[in-house]
Amino acid sequence: MLRGESTGRCVVWIGRPSVEEHFGLIRAGWRTLVADPARCDGDLPECGDSAIAVADLRANQQDALRILSSLRQVHPGIPWIGLTGTPPAMAHATLRQVLAGAFEVIDGPSSLGALRQALARIPGDAELTHDDEPSLLTGSSAAIRALSQNIRKFAPVELPLLITGETGTGKEMAARTLHELSHRRGKPFAAINCGALPANLVQSELFGHERGAFTGATARRIGHFESADGGTVFLDEIGDLPLDAQTNLLRVLQEGTIERIGSCQSIKVDVRVLAATHVDLEKAVAQGRFREDLFYRLNVLRLRMPPLRERTGDIELLAQHFLDAFRESYGTRARTFSAAARRAMNAFPWPGNVRELMNRVQRAAVIADDALISPSDLELDVDASPAMERNSLGSARTSAEREAIVDCLRASSFNISECARRLRVSRVTVYRLCKKHQLALDQLR
Ligand SMILES: Nc1ncnc2c1ncn2[C@@H]1O[C@H](COP(=O)(O)OP(=O)(O)OP(=O)(O)O)[C@@H](O)[C@H]1O
Ligand SMILES: [Mg+2]
Repeated sequence: MLRGESTGRCVVWIGRPSVEEHFGLIRAGWRTLVADPARCDGDLPECGDSAIAVADLRANQQDALRILSSLRQVHPGIPWIGLTGTPPAMAHATLRQVLAGAFEVIDGPSSLGALRQALARIPGDAELTHDDEPSLLTGSSAAIRALSQNIRKFAPVELPLLITGETGTGKEMAARTLHELSHRRGKPFAAINCGALPANLVQSELFGHERGAFTGATARRIGHFESADGGTVFLDEIGDLPLDAQTNLLRVLQEGTIERIGSCQSIKVDVRVLAATHVDLEKAVAQGRFREDLFYRLNVLRLRMPPLRERTGDIELLAQHFLDAFRESYGTRARTFSAAARRAMNAFPWPGNVRELMNRVQRAAVIADDALISPSDLELDVDASPAMERNSLGSARTSAEREAIVDCLRASSFNISECARRLRVSRVTVYRLCKKHQLALDQLR
């Protein structure tokens, strides 16, 4: 018996199916509802919770994605299949990210057969547990699936959220994904790195100032909280927020109001606050560097981004994802990874997490002479034989250390104090590491 018949499930086709596709599905026993972007003006078909969506991205891609997103708002767990056409209409990274959440992506010329097979593979209601829900972020590990589940649960809840995790684990990406899944999507998403703002400008950046509020304030300035009204403010490195700004943030969270510097008029703002930290905020509270009441306000919902080394199975998936994305923009010989490269990647501890993996893959894609990327292209010359493993990992760690310090220096605009603070080491250590890895700061700058 056909799945459509057996379960009474229906297909919501987002786009315009050909006559053959439409009737082909009906003939195969699927109840088929069409959400044609040209006609569907915000109204979604009534499909119930057991529907499967087909996002037809072959023609009106933007509109199809918009309708898909609305449908997923109403039915957060709805499985969906992406039809990308020929050549695959996957021009930009955002689309890739969206497609990563698809149950299956069908490239190439329209094939009713492939579609029917894909539909048949999707588990029925009883089988579709949360664990089976497609992942929102690239990856299929248990850790990333659990994270996706929490993002889905937290998106519609209007409470602050604290995202924790090591550097490069995707904290900002998770925050953006959550914003896109919330009813605030389409409204501003303001990402502010609290650690990068000079202490004397933080308040003005966040809350704005009136003309003449301080020397140099020659005109009124609207802060991020005001300009993101209706949307989401993402405060990265919240642990670096100075104490006076923490007090004002608490006020936003408690009363939903701000005051521009130099004004005593309260302004109502409607923003959801998401915050991220790679430092231990509990410790900062214990040391008096972070307000305890603010910590409890922010810590209502919490997302922990797993380090890459805990994401068993995701490393190769992400590596291929970054390589494919790179190949779309640049013609490279490299198509995939050799078995040795895969072993090396899986054995490496990835101190810089997903960002480091992306950087290594991009560099390897540029320098690889072959269709298969080798461990040395990735600068991971790890021989996976157990006897060699320790030494090789040692050298891989050394090169990762060099990479991490160079990345951090760049991110800190080569300011040693800033870099030391980010790495949570002393300035002397930063200088020592530069010397150890023969990094000439003057040249790098
Ligand atoms: N699951 C993922 N799929 C694709 N790209 C990812 C994923 N997770 C992270 N990335 C990429 O890795 C890089 C680092 O991600 P992001 O900036 O979100 O990390 P972060 O935790 O905020 O880092 P930091 O602590 O340094 O601020 C970005 O370029 C992001 O696009
Ligand atoms: Mg970040």
